[in-house]
Amino acid sequence: MKTIDLSIKIGFCQLDELSEQEQKLINGAISATSKSYSPYSNFAVGAALLLSNGTEIRGANQENAAFPVGLCAERSAIFAAQSTQPDQSITTIAIAARNGYGFTKNPIVPCGSCRQVLLEMEDRYKKPIRILLYGTEGVYVINSVKDILPLQFVGESMK
Ligand code: THU
Repeated sequence: MKTIDLSIKIGFCQLDELSEQEQKLINGAISATSKSYSPYSNFAVGAALLLSNGTEIRGANQENAAFPVGLCAERSAIFAAQSTQPDQSITTIAIAARNGYGFTKNPIVPCGSCRQVLLEMEDRYKKPIRILLYGTEGVYVINSVKDILPLQFVGESMK
């Protein structure tokens, strides 16, 4: 059997190495954590999307006593954007999270379900989405959802 190499490369940088627009988006994600409803995990996640018309849409995780019913910050933001401005593609998403001690040192990455939803957005608009993952020690910069979901199931896969 031969092996197939699916290795990826992502960027790691400090906030001030990013453009002003991207720093602003990360600050949007940081700020969105204050809208989290997370009494069960005490883990507040914020997401901020930049749409192609320059609009910023934010989301925060929303939990429920029936745990699986809750929704991640990323999908809260994506579905809000899709429900209000479906004609606009998503160019960038920034994500930040804090626990009881403060913002996480290491960036958090979107869960598998959110990656799948993000993938659908890339597929819908045929444009890569840049992903900025904030941590107090630095930011991960990812150029496409495909980089963090290397084997992709999309509509085309069913043909
Ligand atoms: N969470 C997010 O909002 N985004 C992620 O990428 C990972 C996890 C939320 C779900 C739940 O409310 C809490 O974080 C703990 O898992």
